Amino acid sequence: MDFSHSEHELRWQTIARDFAQREVSPIAREMDELGAMPPSIVSRMAELGLLGSTISSDLGGSDMTSVALAMVYEELGRACSSVRGFMTVHSSLVMQCINQWGNDKQKSTYLPMLASGQSIGCYCLTEPEAGSDAANIQTTATPVDGGYELRGEKIWITNANIASLAIVFAKLPIVDNQKPHGAITAFLIDTSTKGFQRKKMPGKELGHRASDHAHITLEKCFVPSENILGGERQGFKVAMSALDHGRLGVAAGALGVHQACLDATVSFVRSRKQFGSRIGDFEMIQASVAEMKASLEASRYLVYLAAWKKDTGETSTLEASIAKFHATEAALKAASEAVLIHGGRGYSNEYPVERYYRDIKGLQIYEGTSHIQRIVIARNVIGKP
Ligand code: CAA
Repeated sequence: MDFSHSEHELRWQTIARDFAQREVSPIAREMDELGAMPPSIVSRMAELGLLGSTISSDLGGSDMTSVALAMVYEELGRACSSVRGFMTVHSSLVMQCINQWGNDKQKSTYLPMLASGQSIGCYCLTEPEAGSDAANIQTTATPVDGGYELRGEKIWITNANIASLAIVFAKLPIVDNQKPHGAITAFLIDTSTKGFQRKKMPGKELGHRASDHAHITLEKCFVPSENILGGERQGFKVAMSALDHGRLGVAAGALGVHQACLDATVSFVRSRKQFGSRIGDFEMIQASVAEMKASLEASRYLVYLAAWKKDTGETSTLEASIAKFHATEAALKAASEAVLIHGGRGYSNEYPVERYYRDIKGLQIYEGTSHIQRIVIARNVIGKP
């Protein structure tokens, strides 16, 4: 067993760390308050090669290993979950999905533009009546001359107000008593297509306030047949395998939040004095810090194991679910402890831990809640009902 990182991985970690600490961290609070991310963040990520992720350089990508990409997400997550979330949807859910399922023409048309940030991608699965039960989507794709007409509604779609490319999941008419998931098909849609309408999700979100989330309405939205991704009626597998990529990215982002909570707590307990001592000298505080550190290292090995397995080319659905489940739950606990240890200061937005606490809740929910990860893990161990 070799737990060391290659030069390639350390180089990407350094690039991501420098960018995150110098250019993202200083404006993370401002972005949270404004509820937006400046477009320059995206162009800078493209310039540094971050958006190119694991895609081959022949297609404009950056040839990263999955381990290197996890290190990038960890560094971004340490600075800002909205920025990391933007990239996970764009580079993992969308680009890796096209790379896995696209034909040569689709890959060469879309991947270079996505890697350069010229085009932004979004992944449209969730609907008002289909969150965890993804097979229950109601959006329909009706065959028409030369393609399909899509009708339906999508909600909580990250990046969709700024995206020019959408992967949309819709159902063809059910044939031969097939199960509902067997009718799902994935479509690549230019967001300027007539009938593709989007607006910001209503309400102020608990965390991820700088992220873009849209409500999409599809009204007789025409898609040519050549824009099917992965084949007719293969869409559920396309969606699930894309989530395997995305869940690993979320798990790595949770590591970053967890590390940020630990960093902030260590710095605070070293300087804050109560009862005549630094609070870090009290055993109860030491126990909390020790638990935060131990659970962080456990998450880290699970995330890097899942990424390493992916790099070997083996299926890593189980490992990605375990990593997401453990890393997000552990980071949530760490964020809660960090706020508690900071006391009144932790509750105030003068310190960063309240933002970490709000943001981490999103990671526990999106791309499959902790309940869904438990289902994936349990089915793997016990077998499907
Ligand atoms: N890769 C490839 N194929 C897979 C797969 C995977 N990881 N997981 C399942 N499949 C295949 C199965 O092999 C099966 O294939 P067959 O038809 O050949 O038998 C088929 O898919 C159906 O599988 P299941 O019977 O397991 O499907 P299910 O309906 O019971 O659902 C589930 C399983 C795990 C609960 C799934 O519905 C799920 O993951 N739900 C959560 C959805 C989710 O994460 N949504 C978040 C969307 S994105 C987001 O959050 C916001 C954003 O902007 C990005």
